Amino acid sequence: METKKIKWGILGTGRIATVFATALQVVEDSELYAVGSRNMTKAQQFAGEYAVPKAYGSYEELVQDPDIDVIYIATPHNLHVENTLMALNHNKHVLCEKPLGVNRKEVKLLAEKASEKKLFLMEALWSRFLPNIIKVKELVESGVIGDVKLLTAFFSFKSDKGPEHRQFNIELCGGTILDIGIYNMFLSYLLLGKPKEISALAGLSEQGIDTSSSYTFKYNDDTIAAMYSSFLADSPTIAKIHGSKGRIELQHQWFCPGSVKLILNDGTQEQFDFNFKSNGYEFEAEEVVRCLQEGKTQSEMWSLNDSLQLVEIMDSVRKECGVVYPKHDF
Ligand SMILES: NC(=O)c1ccc[n+]([C@@H]2O[C@H](COP(=O)([O-])OP(=O)(O)OC[C@H]3O[C@@H](n4cnc5c(N)ncnc54)[C@H](OP(=O)(O)O)[C@@H]3O)[C@@H](O)[C@H]2O)c1
Repeated sequence: METKKIKWGILGTGRIATVFATALQVVEDSELYAVGSRNMTKAQQFAGEYAVPKAYGSYEELVQDPDIDVIYIATPHNLHVENTLMALNHNKHVLCEKPLGVNRKEVKLLAEKASEKKLFLMEALWSRFLPNIIKVKELVESGVIGDVKLLTAFFSFKSDKGPEHRQFNIELCGGTILDIGIYNMFLSYLLLGKPKEISALAGLSEQGIDTSSSYTFKYNDDTIAAMYSSFLADSPTIAKIHGSKGRIELQHQWFCPGSVKLILNDGTQEQFDFNFKSNGYEFEAEEVVRCLQEGKTQSEMWSLNDSLQLVEIMDSVRKECGVVYPKHDF
């Protein structure tokens, strides 16, 4: 039986939209069919570059195209709830960039809407679908490093962006916690679950977004996850999981396609390498296609409950740090 080709629409034409469009080219049973921008010239430029048949000069027109199956939302954080709701209300399945919503209330609203409309919805937490991250989870669950006692994960770089950019702009719900800290917290949630206690500190900009944050999570026993994220310093973006029998190391840019090192206390070492067809974003897109072909409304690998648990963790961290988004947190 012939499988149905999934027609994608991309909403927003910024940096990640171009990266995702590149990855879609290697995804089977997929067609990048339409793009929507606030600006028709930008939409046409994007369409020309990625051979997209349809270009729209507004997000409203994009979501109204009856031939689109799924919309990929690639706008700043503040717009995720509004853009996702609009797509769902026009009966489109949705893959929305991280974070799915900036707080629990927004994620819950979106999950409820998707459920009511019986549509697929997933947060584009691309790292969850990378073979290196899947391997880390398998290794931890296999018990090869014994009981996990300490997880460290860092995501820090010196940003050259100005205060108007989405990284620093409070109106666009900027700050490291939602933008890059989310990866650290995702890893600790994936491997250790929801923490029992959270302590966090952040340096805030004049606008009130966190420019550097550190957060430590405590679990049931003597297990700790210690993490930081920053836009102010170039620092190795690495993650390590230490257990009673050894450790797992993820190389620089640990949240990207890469290799995994297993180092046991007896000196044994093993490195795991993987093949990537494109830039790594193909794995999340393949998961969406698989779910849609199977008639699923959620991914079992990264469910809406996972997104809800993660945003609850980020809400707690933001609360500790005093990061408030005026038009969203009330
Ligand atoms: N998964 C990852 O590895 C990864 C990496 C980077 C970013 N992201 C996520 O992807 C999303 C977009 O990030 P990005 O780096 O692609 O941002 P970006 O380059 O600034 O692009 C965002 C796009 O959103 C649209 N937009 C609508 N309203 C806007 C506004 N008020 N200000 C700025 N842009 C606006 C614009 O598209 P039009 O002008 O075409 O309408 C713009 O090009 C964020 O949620 C971010 O967290 C994910």
